[in-house]
Amino acid sequence: MFLSAVSLFAQSPTSANLALTPPMGWNTWNKFACNVSETLIKQAADAMVKSGMKDAGYQYIVIDDCWQVRRDSLGDIVADPQRFPGGIKAVADYVHSLGLKFGIYSDAGLKTCAGRPGGLGHEYQDALKYAEWGVDYLKYDWCNTTTQDTKASYANMRAALDASGRPIVLSICEWGNHQPWLWGKEMGGNLWRSTGDIQDRWEGKKEWNPGNCCSYGVVDIADAEADLYSYAGPGHWNDPDMLEVGNGGMTDTEYRSHFSLWAILAAPLMAGNDLGNMRPEIRDILTNKEVIAIDQDPLGRQGRRAWKDGDREVWSKELKDGSRAVILFNRGSAEQSVTANREAIGYPASLSAAVRDLWQHKDLGKFTGKFSATVPSHGVVMVTVRP
Ligand code: GLA
Repeated sequence: MFLSAVSLFAQSPTSANLALTPPMGWNTWNKFACNVSETLIKQAADAMVKSGMKDAGYQYIVIDDCWQVRRDSLGDIVADPQRFPGGIKAVADYVHSLGLKFGIYSDAGLKTCAGRPGGLGHEYQDALKYAEWGVDYLKYDWCNTTTQDTKASYANMRAALDASGRPIVLSICEWGNHQPWLWGKEMGGNLWRSTGDIQDRWEGKKEWNPGNCCSYGVVDIADAEADLYSYAGPGHWNDPDMLEVGNGGMTDTEYRSHFSLWAILAAPLMAGNDLGNMRPEIRDILTNKEVIAIDQDPLGRQGRRAWKDGDREVWSKELKDGSRAVILFNRGSAEQSVTANREAIGYPASLSAAVRDLWQHKDLGKFTGKFSATVPSHGVVMVTVRP
């Protein structure tokens, strides 16, 4: 019974062809946490257009936790009337009027992670409401769940979204606890978180409070994703969590590495900073169209770590035109030279290939056998290698 429901809905026309490249957008959580409102969302949508992010490919404006306060006597979910005086549909309409798409957050359990009403037992009712409001993307969290089965819970929400008749991207957020890369696609998920939450730091996992593990830095998450490449593809992506670029806890060099690694991982690119108050350096990172093109390459391959020696690494991603995107990555504390040998990235040593630097926006010429560059501490050199 359960299996037939899954296959029925996972193939349904409403959810087919969603997220054929990794979703790009902005989400409230990393910067604003529970401080969400109609004003904030409208300002973010305006800033997404004005900053050039929409032109660079960002689409979804997503309200994360804390927009909801209770259920009414019919069981319908109610948005915070102080923070969203016009209701959620008015916000969605505004976002759509700018040519953007609109996303929202809920939870498969009794309550969200911030203690707001969850979706358990109300999946079809909520999906209808989301469709009525014009929701295009649902992030579905895993806090305060009961003994419920993980796969069945997400399959059920997918079925509910499909039954609403509106195509809605399903973002599975159970932090990699039940290896969602093994089943997320079959359950109709378009992306699934592979780790606990990111925080705005370079490295190191930290307990939220004693005994309650953990948030992670950029390189911890990149390490956790490095071997998951075979599970990603058009319509179904590993999600290393949202971007911290621009939130102040890392250097611009580290933010460039964060963005480059996410692009080579074919990660969803959900910005998480204050879009209305970006330094030009941050805007230039988030809108680097050459790096975004690597993330959005239509072949949909997730890149992998191709070579490692101590704190020097080479990451490589196959592109549709047969070329490679390559990151020379220096995790060490001093500048050093990193070399990408041809064989490491899947080419014969004799091959001559054109190398282009995606951060300097510069053709570097033709190289045979290998390509080397000096890479700053915690930095990357990101190139395409085109035979
Ligand atoms: C969890 C998720 C985060 C965010 C918060 C909201 O921690 O992993 O991304 O959605 O809940 O409470």
